[in-house]
Amino acid sequence: MSTRYAIILAAGQGTRMKSKLYKVLHPVCGKPMVQHVVDQVSKLNIDEMVTIIGHGAEKVKAQLGDKSQYALQESQLGTAHAVIQAKGTLAGKQGVTIVVCGDTPLIEAETMEALIKQHEAMNAKVTVLTAATDNPTGYGRIVRNAEGHVEKIVEHKDATDQERSIKEINTGTYCFDNKALFEALEQVSNDNVQGEYYLPDVIEILKKQGEIVTAYQTGNFEETLGVNDRVALSQAEQIMKNRINESHMRNGVTLIDPTSTYIGADVEIGQDTVIYPGTVVSGRTVIGSDCVIGPNSEIKDCKIGDATTIRQSVAHDSSIGSNVNIGPFAHIRPSSDIHDEVKIGNFVEIKKAVFGQGSKASHLSYIGDAEVGKDVNIGCGSITVNYDGKNKFLTKIEDNVFVGCNSNLVAPVTIGKGSYVAAGSTITNNVPEEALSIARARQVNKENYVQKLNLKK
Ligand code: UD1
Ligand code: CA
Repeated sequence: MSTRYAIILAAGQGTRMKSKLYKVLHPVCGKPMVQHVVDQVSKLNIDEMVTIIGHGAEKVKAQLGDKSQYALQESQLGTAHAVIQAKGTLAGKQGVTIVVCGDTPLIEAETMEALIKQHEAMNAKVTVLTAATDNPTGYGRIVRNAEGHVEKIVEHKDATDQERSIKEINTGTYCFDNKALFEALEQVSNDNVQGEYYLPDVIEILKKQGEIVTAYQTGNFEETLGVNDRVALSQAEQIMKNRINESHMRNGVTLIDPTSTYIGADVEIGQDTVIYPGTVVSGRTVIGSDCVIGPNSEIKDCKIGDATTIRQSVAHDSSIGSNVNIGPFAHIRPSSDIHDEVKIGNFVEIKKAVFGQGSKASHLSYIGDAEVGKDVNIGCGSITVNYDGKNKFLTKIEDNVFVGCNSNLVAPVTIGKGSYVAAGSTITNNVPEEALSIARARQVNKENYVQKLNLKK
């Protein structure tokens, strides 16, 4: 196998997106477009990858990290000019170079692998990935000669009416002989409607030199969709969403209604988990097996064990164990660590709290900045009073505590192991182990009070 290089084009502003966010950083199913591309390219055993950056250079670099090298294109004079920026790193090296646009987020490794394979088999200097579509507007067109061989690529804006009727388009993905690429780039001019240096012109240049120029047509146009505006972005989102949902279903996850289920590109879900409609699972979430999620739940960056149920609830940046029962209408806020067999019931909000195994907060509670031990029962309406307006304080509730309904636990405070807090208490001091703490006014019953009031009238 020859040495493999990759060049990712990601320097453009993306004017047609009409956005403050640089085009290639727009997410598709929660992941920036350019990251999708780099993740797929990374599967191809690439020896050196160079990403061309310009607009938003630092942000693109921060996104991709050290998976790629970078070359800066200071002004965006076109796709050929972009590729030339990799000269310092790659020119003169022996091998094949795959060039991919950062705005084609649906491209898959298998297709690029097939492209490289054909390129090598044909001993070509360039192989362009093409696709057929009934609506080729905006794309470069593949112009073939009478024998059906690729002659050149014409950009939509430069094309004649006859050329515009061609339905075979340039997907913007190519495989080049690396040396031939950098030599041919020197000859690209900007003599066209847009005054840009077009990478596709390399095809015509190599063809005229008598080199082997070929095309590899994929049957799947969808995969090559180029995202230039928000309409295409929403199409890419749809296609990616279907692809992700389908792969989970094939892996043994039940999606009751895939059309209303949104699963991020990097989410992992175990077998026999069932996801109900209206559910959004995103970020680096990992869900185990046999869980029931939804309907109408939002889960982001959570790690969830097996056989856990989360109904009509929101959970972010937290760890949730196995056999946990959450909701309906619960809110698990960041940095919560909910162990196995916990129950978090309706209208309960948890923030930055550890919940030990078997503990319960079944109704209407706020538990924030807290360490709750095992088998604790937090009664309806009880809350941690964690904030004095300036600072947050910790509440510790040790194993086997029973907190009666409607209690306020004013932090910092520790409720000792096995103790009881009487309903309606406002606890400001630590409660010793095994104690009963009552912190409320005693009840006074005024006998016949109503009668006395009536006599005064
Ligand atoms: C390009 C192709 C077109 C093809 C289409 C496929 C050219 C001239 N045209 O058109 O034939 O059908 O892709 O989607 O190549 N970029 C840079 N620096 C630049 C210009 C662009 O890095 O100076 C990057 C952009 O960030 C983008 C990619 O190159 O990721 C493609 O540029 P774009 O302007 O979107 O090209 P298209 O008009 O879509
Ligand atoms: Ca494009």
